[in-house]
Amino acid sequence: ISIVVLISGGGTNLQALIDKVSAVESPLPITIEAVISNRPDVYGLERAKQAGIAHHTLNHKAYDSREAFDEALMSLIDGYAPQLVVLAGFMRILTPAFTEHYLGRMLNIHPSLLPKYQGLHTHQRALESGDDVHGVTVHFVTAELDGGPNVIQAQVPVFANDTPETLAQRVQQQEHIIYPMAVDWFARKRLTMRDNRSFLDGEPL
Ligand code: GRF
Repeated sequence: ISIVVLISGGGTNLQALIDKVSAVESPLPITIEAVISNRPDVYGLERAKQAGIAHHTLNHKAYDSREAFDEALMSLIDGYAPQLVVLAGFMRILTPAFTEHYLGRMLNIHPSLLPKYQGLHTHQRALESGDDVHGVTVHFVTAELDGGPNVIQAQVPVFANDTPETLAQRVQQQEHIIYPMAVDWFARKRLTMRDNRSFLDGEPL
């Protein structure tokens, strides 16, 4: 299937997808048609360039409203007619018009065990709460921020001497495993969303 990836930063999750497409063992059955960043000059754009993938910056600062930015983003994405939109570190709150348009065909990865710690600074918040387990969630995107139905989670232990940075690193290793896995399920038509619920091979997740 064809996908478009949206980023705002370094793009390590994008890289995990790129690497999986050309993996020898069970390659990811996707074509990354384009990578779009809302921030100029981020390293994720360089990763796209090096992989020979079309890439664009659509700077949100050039638009007067969230609605106007989201409309421009939608038309840029839809020019590639992707079957799936993958948010990979895309740090923008999306309008209902946008989430509605891609309902059931847009995934996000969030660095916490949702529904815990929606929003920002998740690693710091997990440490401050004294959690001994933390993790990451892939979910379908709905109008509710970080609130769509879960697809897959991975847990990591929290150690006494962890900092937000060491914890983030441990979580990111898991991100790079579970995000390609979720995209693979979707690409093979195993993963679907209906009535605000996720299904794998027809079974509720
Ligand atoms: C990841 O930790 C992701 O969970 C969060 O933003 C980060 C993006 O990292 N939403 P990268 O740009 O994929 O390296």
